Amino acid sequence: MSFLKKISPLLKNTFLSEKDVLSICAAQIEAEIQQGKRKNYNEVLDLSSGDLHRGGTKPISFVRQVLAACFYPELLEDDSLPLDVKQRAECLLRQCDGGSVGSYTDSCGIAKIKQCVTKFITRRDGGVPSSPDNIFITTGSQMALMFMVQLLVQSEGSGVLIPVPTYATFTQALEDQGAAIIPYHLCEEQGWTLQVEELRRALHAGRRTCNPVALYICNPGNPTGHMQSRKSIEEVIRFAAEERLFLLADEVYQSCVYGEDTEFESYKKVLSEMGSTISGTVELASFNSASKGFMGECGLRGGYMELVNLDPAVKEYTRTFFSTRSCPPVGGQIALDLMTDPPKPGDPSFPTFSEEIQSIKNMISKNARRIQEVFSEIQGISCQPLKAGFFVFPRLHLPPRAIKLAKKKQMEPDMLYCLHLLEESGLHVRSGCEYGQKKDSHHFRLFVATHEDTMEDVLQRLKTFHKRFMMEFS
Ligand SMILES: Cc1ncc(COP(=O)(O)O)c(C=O)c1O
Repeated sequence: MSFLKKISPLLKNTFLSEKDVLSICAAQIEAEIQQGKRKNYNEVLDLSSGDLHRGGTKPISFVRQVLAACFYPELLEDDSLPLDVKQRAECLLRQCDGGSVGSYTDSCGIAKIKQCVTKFITRRDGGVPSSPDNIFITTGSQMALMFMVQLLVQSEGSGVLIPVPTYATFTQALEDQGAAIIPYHLCEEQGWTLQVEELRRALHAGRRTCNPVALYICNPGNPTGHMQSRKSIEEVIRFAAEERLFLLADEVYQSCVYGEDTEFESYKKVLSEMGSTISGTVELASFNSASKGFMGECGLRGGYMELVNLDPAVKEYTRTFFSTRSCPPVGGQIALDLMTDPPKPGDPSFPTFSEEIQSIKNMISKNARRIQEVFSEIQGISCQPLKAGFFVFPRLHLPPRAIKLAKKKQMEPDMLYCLHLLEESGLHVRSGCEYGQKKDSHHFRLFVATHEDTMEDVLQRLKTFHKRFMMEFS
């Protein structure tokens, strides 16, 4: 309680979000530990962001070797680098003006890398063609999403349908652009499924106050860890066709799929198989990123967007729009090249590369299983099946006294829970209220992609804390 008193000035600061308050508190606790203050734990475990490397995962050697050689070409003479690393670095440097990663590139990205991306998409989608003309490389996918919002929300009163809960930064981007936000709820009880009746309800409600122009989908889901079935994707596409909505398919977690019998199918692939009146008309932008695959290179800032079925004039306008921006960082572009064209069997780097990727995949799927096992035993927490992505979004069934106290403190009940969890157990997670949730439901978001031993520590700390918290407020 004394902790809550200490942070109440922070909570009253309207410029700080729940995320900021939790981060400031985590930093304060870490400083106290460094000053020798005794706690029940030795360190704060940060499970608040979707950052693989911050979570302790080592970078993929092949990626860092190629980057190192591109940034310091003297390494091309170094015998310790595998031949395919040197060949790739040489090839990439030939694409850079002056043979240097220090040169500007085309504002939509290096042509050879765009080609690599199209080949990757065609492979991923079982042969559906993709053209470099429709690919835009960007400074991360967040930037690409913002570009599209700027393009789509040009007149006052334009609205975008977004899921609840959803990736909070996108909601913020919409607010910044002055877009009207039209929330549609995912059905938690059925594994966070997206139901067309709910989309229809939301659209009709939205039309009373604004002009809905686009539908944003996050598949696999952040923060929910769900993945849409093919049938669900088809229903959404049909809905977008009927209602003439532009589809924004955020698919950045596409390579991180671990649910049993779960396979990623892109919106583009499903769209291409839906018959010409739909496949040739529904406008789609799909997004992917070097931040979220198993390479997890968030800091390099490399993302791409593919446009489908855009009117040629609008596509040209998009290109002009892009050309007013500076080029995406070359390191991020290289990361995309390596993500979309990784080493193949027979290449010198392949054995190490596949071993490293497999160990990350194993870590995430093992954690996902363990999380579900532990949450199924904890009273007062329920959790939908985890299928993909970097997060789990468990529901908290909080006692009325905890809810009452939160109201008195003018904060959301799950924020109260997260603050107590941070102070008492040193676990830094994010509160569900940041992502949107159904009235009177409470959640928190936990990053799943951390080392197995760390995850075990997290789960034990959480279990002990939760029991004590529930007892205190029962
Ligand atoms: C669903 C989703 N989309 C997009 C992004 C942005 O990723 P980046 O800008 O690093 O490519 C994130 C980052 O967490 C995300 O979770």
